[in-house]
Amino acid sequence: MPVADLIDGRAIAAQLEDELAWRIAALKTRGVQPGLAFVRVGEDEASRVYVGRKEKTCDRLGIFSKTHVLSGETSQAELLALLARLNSDPRLHGILVQTPIPPQIHPGLVAETVLPEKDVDGFHPVNVGKLLLGDLSGFASCTPAGICELLVRSGVKIPGAEVVVLGRGNLVGKPMAAMLCQKGRHANATVTICHSATRDIKAHCRRADILIAAIGVAEFVKADMVKPGAVVVDVGVNRIHDPAAKGGSRLVGDVDFARVRAVAGKLTPNPGGVGPMTIAMLMGNTVRAAELAVGIPYS
Ligand code: GUN
Repeated sequence: MPVADLIDGRAIAAQLEDELAWRIAALKTRGVQPGLAFVRVGEDEASRVYVGRKEKTCDRLGIFSKTHVLSGETSQAELLALLARLNSDPRLHGILVQTPIPPQIHPGLVAETVLPEKDVDGFHPVNVGKLLLGDLSGFASCTPAGICELLVRSGVKIPGAEVVVLGRGNLVGKPMAAMLCQKGRHANATVTICHSATRDIKAHCRRADILIAAIGVAEFVKADMVKPGAVVVDVGVNRIHDPAAKGGSRLVGDVDFARVRAVAGKLTPNPGGVGPMTIAMLMGNTVRAAELAVGIPYS
């Protein structure tokens, strides 16, 4: 039985980190250390883990970071006031407000309040608009940008490919589709977005040369939804009940990994696929924000 090659996100993220090291060293010769602020609101366990990983990567690379942890009862005004202070702090080149945020705070207002030039998450409407326009001077959202990098560095041919993106979220689905259908050497794909109202999702998926699962449903993609030899990218992180697992639950992706592996040509593992790439792209955006702040032009 054929078995898909695994796309090693950890190894590719490590390559990207190596490439960033010399840019960070070049900034140091100018007396500049890239700086990134993290903001967490409330005690979401997954967010605590994710921000912890991002802090560790900053430490490893020599990026200054500072984390602000606010209570789950924080008002919108309090959070916006903190963001205004971070916007004007010259040590900080990037600001990231980890999602999810509590319901009393409007996520759109948060995205608009972070200055576009410090929006290393790529969530500000100016950066989202630039992405859609194909203007590379903005910051691209880290998870979809990381997936593009994974595909390119794994030798996957994107131009002309039929891509199906499962999910239309603002974090992954929509920016992912925008990136892949753009005119460009590593884009130029024919993209279909499927969502909860799509008729016959399976038929769409079976046409895909590249299938990107960002739908947030545990093990949604089954083997019979995948064209033999297709590239499958699993973005999902879902906690499922499992009495046999430690603590009674375990994490699974949006792809039925074991069965899809027998059909796909290439497949991202989960963990170890998309996650490390999101962090590497965040580091890349932060270094670029620092470079732009000292007048090093876009490269
Ligand atoms: N929550 C899950 N992924 C992300 C991300 O890339 N950025 C932010 N801000 N929150 C997230």
